Amino acid sequence: MAKTIQAIRGMNDCSPTESPLWQWVETQVREVLNSYGYSEVRMPIVESTPLFARAIGEVTDVVSKEMYTFWDNDEQLTLRPEGTAGCVRAAIEHGWIYNNEQRLWYMGPMFRHERPQKGRYRQFHQAGVEVFGIANPEIDAELIVLTARLWKKLGIDQHVSLQLNSIGSLEARANYRSALVAFLEQHQALMSEEEKERLIKNPLRILDTKNQALQQVLDDAPKLLDYLDDESREHFAQLCALLDSVGIAYEINPKLVRGLDYYNKTVFEWVTSALGAQGTVCGGGRYDGLVEQLGGHAAPGVGFAMGLERLVLLVQEVNASIPLKSAVDIYLVYQGEGTALAAFQLAEKIRSALPHLGTMLHCSGGNFKKQFRRADKSGATLALVIGESEMLNNQVVVKHLQGGVEQQTLDIEKVIDYIQSQF
Ligand code: HAM
Repeated sequence: MAKTIQAIRGMNDCSPTESPLWQWVETQVREVLNSYGYSEVRMPIVESTPLFARAIGEVTDVVSKEMYTFWDNDEQLTLRPEGTAGCVRAAIEHGWIYNNEQRLWYMGPMFRHERPQKGRYRQFHQAGVEVFGIANPEIDAELIVLTARLWKKLGIDQHVSLQLNSIGSLEARANYRSALVAFLEQHQALMSEEEKERLIKNPLRILDTKNQALQQVLDDAPKLLDYLDDESREHFAQLCALLDSVGIAYEINPKLVRGLDYYNKTVFEWVTSALGAQGTVCGGGRYDGLVEQLGGHAAPGVGFAMGLERLVLLVQEVNASIPLKSAVDIYLVYQGEGTALAAFQLAEKIRSALPHLGTMLHCSGGNFKKQFRRADKSGATLALVIGESEMLNNQVVVKHLQGGVEQQTLDIEKVIDYIQSQF
């Protein structure tokens, strides 16, 4: 036998048994976004490499070591590691946000060359939202209540919590950065080589270090909230008041800075302890300078993205009552001269009359015993049986595969009404 070829490490298939749960999660996401009046956008998976370098930042982990980049003739291209950069690029290119507000969402695969583990993959899927043209904290609050509503719908609201911070203006952050570096320089003995490098290139990222000794020291480090400019401080206070007014609980985490460089003011993450190390199911924040930085007319922006693999894992872990429906409702079996044609036609008639049901025709021959085994395996509620005598009498036998009801023989023209009465 020829040698088989396997999927790339960290890139997963979604099997026929897993896809119903994925579809259910995606449907809940779409329903919530529609109920807030947001519009879907779809961007290419491949973009020009400098877009990500400029938007996300050269010294971030994502850009410096996690991007899938390749040359296409003389142009350097990258598989998108996230959706914000491409969405801002598209919004500028097509004039979506020129003198206009937009509340947009997208869903699709993203690519990061990270070390795979549970909840962390090299191809993963995000559902993301980007809102342009609104500076007020009401919209930051709307994004957070929108996600909270989704967690309720998914049945995971008791298992996620909200971490919130404000990282202020660029200037406030620069002042804070100097104070933090001055503090951390006294503790270099506790740092790994990577952390020492971060101290020079991106010191704020040291705040979310996993190094426990350093974490302890950081409790006494200067706090970003103490360095906020007045406008950011007021914006944050209003956001907190809005969340309080609708009963959304949050923890202000002064060490939350996020891993991408475009943020200012609000940053937030929804985290869970039910998934091990990869516990962030959703992250986002405000990025008021990004549109201008990428060449557009200045426009404020705010958004978030959630990891669908992590949401699916969490739903599997904590929500046992998902109303997942089998793909097949009705399974047609047939045996004998001329029955294939009759069954084929009946299946099409049912699909025309009852398009919301899944109707499967057996197709692959064999005796009734084998066909019924397949029908049972399909998860269908009803089997419709056409043998030679049924065909000659224009009849169909209806069998309830989940038990409980006697099988019966119906005239073929009554079958559709009967099926309708059963679903
Ligand atoms: P991010 O925090 O890099 O933000 O990613 C958002 C979410 O994507 C994470 O919270 C996580 O659930 C999921 N995720 C990230 N990397 C992986 C991975 N390797 N495997 C599985 N899931 C992953 C952004 O991407 C920003 N663009 C969010 C945003 C939109 N900010 C403003 N607008």
